[in-house]
This record gives sequence, structure tokens and C-alpha cells, in this order.
Amino acid sequence: YSEEELYRPNFHFTPKANWMNDPNGMFYYNGYYHLYFQYHPEGNVWGPMHWGHATSTDMITWTEQPIAIYPDELGTIFSGSAVVDISNSSGFGEVSKSIPIVAIYTNSKKLEGNDNWRQTQSIAYSNDEGKTFTKYENNPVIDNNKIKDFRDPKVTWDDDRNKWVMSLAVGDKISFYESTNLKEWNFLSDFGQGIGGHGGVWECPDLFKLPVLGTDESKWVLFVSINPGGPNGGSATQYFIGDFDGTTFTMDKEFEKSLSKEHNYWIDFGRDNYAGVSWSNATRKDGSKLMLGWMSNWDYAQKVPTETWRSAMTVARKVQLQKNDNGYRLLFNPVEELNNYRSKKHKKENITIKGETKIIGSEAVDLASAEIQFNISNLKETTYTFKLSNKLGDKLLFGYNNIKKEFFIDRKNSGKTNFSEKFANKVTTASRTSTNDNLSATILLDKTSIELFYDNGETVMTEIFFPNAPYSKLSIESKNQEFILDNIEVHKLNFN
Ligand code: FRU
Repeated sequence: YSEEELYRPNFHFTPKANWMNDPNGMFYYNGYYHLYFQYHPEGNVWGPMHWGHATSTDMITWTEQPIAIYPDELGTIFSGSAVVDISNSSGFGEVSKSIPIVAIYTNSKKLEGNDNWRQTQSIAYSNDEGKTFTKYENNPVIDNNKIKDFRDPKVTWDDDRNKWVMSLAVGDKISFYESTNLKEWNFLSDFGQGIGGHGGVWECPDLFKLPVLGTDESKWVLFVSINPGGPNGGSATQYFIGDFDGTTFTMDKEFEKSLSKEHNYWIDFGRDNYAGVSWSNATRKDGSKLMLGWMSNWDYAQKVPTETWRSAMTVARKVQLQKNDNGYRLLFNPVEELNNYRSKKHKKENITIKGETKIIGSEAVDLASAEIQFNISNLKETTYTFKLSNKLGDKLLFGYNNIKKEFFIDRKNSGKTNFSEKFANKVTTASRTSTNDNLSATILLDKTSIELFYDNGETVMTEIFFPNAPYSKLSIESKNQEFILDNIEVHKLNFN
């Protein structure tokens, strides 16, 4: 097998060549979803950052475009966001001809003689729907000479107060700023010192409003990526639910109370979903938001066994907010657009699982391009283990331990793992928050990734792997007790 055949994903975005990390500047306009990304066009490890660019009509299949933003005298181009400036509040639009797209990003410049960076916030505008950008002549729009980590501006339109609000990662906290024209910014407030996970530096925030499903109420959501300090090591993204009054973000009281316990508020418990933020100008009719993340982890991202390109993005996900007995919880599920790629369907019902039972093999469905749904009612005190395997003995284990009430992924024997000590040093776990006696999940399988959406998206796990040959069999195991798998549906996903 070539690296390309083995590892280039079937339906997750990868750059044709070279290094990629965080998604940046995502916006929707005129039928196209735009995705920019941290890009080093001259190597397969992190280096001087540019904004790469890709477009899609459905967030599933992407067309890579020329690099959109290049480094300049203020520094390289770190993460940030883009907005569709519909009212031309910035004045960058060509009156009555175009609606400007405004990118807000961090310029990062290495300082002579030490290891520090000078990080400032700059803007650039596009009058050709995001293809090319012109930098604003008075950059930076937020200067900084003192603070080491000062980056990743995410700008959102605050509809209640008619102004732009920026969240910015500043060391171990998030700072909020406001503006009416995207050029002049006033500091509003800080959030986060002593709150939430602090095992590493805070990065890539996102603040937005979401309706609570089935109610007239809305809440504000704050995403904060953190590296290291994730629940299973390395990089991960936590979230907070609360209110924003135009100046200050205040956590919901109940939410805050449950934070002091072992906290469960991670957008993903797998090791490979980082720096995710929401799309601008893409709120769905039902108020839900759309997002995706970088499907890797700073613990080993630069060492994974691909040479030509490095890293993929997660599948695009819909973000909703529900309130149940446990309080507020975000739900993450693959966007419905993915359903358009379903082709063959295999369905099995009422299967008794005793020992290891084969569910499906590659003779029926390509297990590197599949969507699976299963349902188990009447959970027993046992471990439900799913196994993807190939003839070389590589295997990926995942499932649910109903004694510990914990989901898991075990990639210790999944194929190539020794490129980094940190890649497969432990079994990844996520405690289940739902107390439902019925367990259901959606599973997305690509060549080098698995995305698990349990309990309608209440607990998500995303991980990558590198088998020596494609996985050719999916089976399920019961260790100590037999059980019934009520139903399982396997859809082949067809991208040709
Ligand atoms: C997150 C991050 C951001 C930064 C970018 C640099 O992965 O460290 O904070 O802007 O990557 O590439």
C-alpha cells in the first residue's frame, strides 16, 4: 500500500500537501462554506503560518483553494475568524457592489534574542467572497507588547446589542472586546482565571448564543481549547454555559456547581479534536450552530506516519443545547448533509452477542467509508466491546463499560503507534452522563479515524489510527455475559 492509499481520508478534509493545524475563519456566504486553516506550505511539520483555504457547498467534500493570507512584517498568520459584514460596518465594501468578508487573526512575530513571540490582532478584507484578502493599512487593531500568549480572535455579531464581540485567548483566561466597525476595539472583561481546566494554555475561544432545545430560552456558550490538559492528555476543547450581558460572561449557577466535581464539559473526549470553533453566518433555522475541529493532538501531531501531508479535520458537526436532569449539555452530531452520501445499507436486528460475533466485513462494506448506527436496550452490567480488525492482527477496540459507566477507545494495537510514546500510552475514556437504560450511537469510520457520537451526541469521542492494512472486519464481543444487540445499521458512504 502507498501512504496515499492507506492513510489519505475518504471524507475528511486534508491539504493536498504539507502541514495543517487549526481551522480558521470559517464562514458561509452565497452557497459556499469556507474553511481556512493554519498552514505551513513548505513542510510537513509546524512552521511559519499562513491561512490555507478550502470551499464546499455542503461541508463534507472540499475543494482546496490557493493560500488566502500570507505572513507580513507584523509576523506570521496565526488562528482567527472571519465575518460576513452584511451592513458594511467596516466600510471595506465597495458600495452597492460587494459585501465584505473581514478576517480577524493574530500576527505572531518572533522576538530577537529570545523564545518569545509578539502577538497582536490584525484584520484583512475580501471583496471577492473570501478568495483574496487585502490587509488593513492600520494593523494591528489590537496591539500588545507585554503578554506572551495573546491570540486567536473569534468575532461574533451580538444581535441583542448590535455590535461585534471578540473573544481572545490571553494566557489562562479569555478577554472580551467590542467594536462597531471591526477596526476599533474596546476591552470589556475577562473570564476564566481559576475556572475550568487549566492544565495548559487557553487557546481558540468561541462565544455564541444557542437556543435551548424545546424552549424559548437561549444561553451563551463559550468554547475554550486547552493544551495540554485535555481529559485524556494533550489538547482538547472545554465548554462553559452561561449568559452574556454585552460586557461579561457569567456561568450558569447550576453549571458552575457541577464544574467543581470531575468536570464533564468537553466537546470531545477522544484525543483528536482540537481548536474547533463555529461557522460565521451559518446559523441553522432551528438556531443550531455548525463547527469542526482539527483532528489531531499537539502531543504527536507532527510525528504521525504520513509524509506528504499532515493532519485532517473532523467531520462538520451540528451543535445544539439541551437541558435535562443533569443541567445544560451541548449535543454534537454530524451535519445532516452527510446523509446524502449514504449508498448501500445493511441492517441487522436482534443479534445475540456471545463471545466474538462478526457484524460485517469489507466484502460487504468498505469499513473506511461507513456510517454505523446501533441501539442496545436494557443495558447489562458488562462491557460492550466493538472491534475493527485486519488480517495482520491490527485492531481498534471501542465501546462501553457499563460497570464503570465509561466509554472507551483502545488504539494500543491499532497499527503503527510507536512514532510517539504519547500516541497509544493509555486507553481513552469518557464517563457517560446519560442514565438512560438504552444506549445508541452513530459511528463514522474513515481510513484513519473514528468519530463516536453517543446518546444523541451528549458524549463524543474522536480518534485517529494508522493500521498497516485497511480494517476489514467489524465484530462485537461480550466478555462475561451474552447480550442482545437490538439493531445495527451500516451505511456505505460513497464519495465518488
Ligand atoms: C492552537 C494554536 C493557536 C495558534 C495556532 C498556531 O493549536 O496554538 O493558539 O494560533 O495554533 O498555529
